Amino acid sequence: MKGIILAAGKGTRLYPMTKPVCKPLLPVYDKPLIYYPLAVLLQANIRDIMVIIPPEEEETFAKLLGDGSAFGVHIEYAVQYVPRGIADAFLVAEEFIGDDSVCLVLGDNIFYDESREYRFIADAKKNSGATVFGYYVDDPRAFGVVEFDEDGKAISIEEKPRFPKSNYIVPGLYFYDNQVIEIAKNLKPSARGEYEITDVNLEYLRRGQLNVVPLERSFVWMDAGTADSLLLAANCIAEVQHRTGRYIACLEEIALQRGLLTQEQVHAAGDKISQTLYGQYLQCME
Ligand code: G1P
Repeated sequence: MKGIILAAGKGTRLYPMTKPVCKPLLPVYDKPLIYYPLAVLLQANIRDIMVIIPPEEEETFAKLLGDGSAFGVHIEYAVQYVPRGIADAFLVAEEFIGDDSVCLVLGDNIFYDESREYRFIADAKKNSGATVFGYYVDDPRAFGVVEFDEDGKAISIEEKPRFPKSNYIVPGLYFYDNQVIEIAKNLKPSARGEYEITDVNLEYLRRGQLNVVPLERSFVWMDAGTADSLLLAANCIAEVQHRTGRYIACLEEIALQRGLLTQEQVHAAGDKISQTLYGQYLQCME
């Protein structure tokens, strides 16, 4: 399975912060935002990753993530020249995906499982067709909203509905088989002129191949697309890290657990930034 992080959005809702720096590079407490979606791909044991970035940002992203070897994975970059919407990612990454299945995670989505098991990810990888998730929020109007029937089966998904049919939104983490490329190629742009990921999911639903997995309450999902949600996310990460003494989205830690890096490599990475708590955390990692 290949992994894609879509980090190409303009981040206009975060202007002026995102004028000189693109959104996935902004800090969320002690790490750049993109660390969080990247951590999800590492949790999923996906080692072949493409980061889709805006034009002229290759150097900045490469400075931060390099070729992925610092985290035991392979990372390459592709530019999305025109922001045509989320589903366009599958066309930008068509060659990279090849005939594989793919997991897409949005560059401003943060996921955290309090149990630290991330079992839902392992399960999603085993499914055929498409797997997306349902997450309860108080105000779902800014998201893709999924409606379930009495048996818990998904029956509709609407993108940013004025009158949502449920409180379950579809967060920005999607698992697809290879049909996704053909589906993405046949999409029509929506009223806002974008190739919508919701339309991809609806096509899988029409084909009877969409799994929608409700996420447990122990699970935290955050979208860091506005100044308020960015602050909320930073506070939440800081709070959990202070309370538990364990880091969220520490890429080297996940790589060590997955056998992608050795303890020596993680300690050496810590030595380079030993003036930070993050570095000290790496230095004493077992
Ligand atoms: C996008 C998707 C939406 C999804 C959301 C999750 O919204 O279109 O279906 O629920 O990401 O963050 P956008 O970021 O384009 O507003």
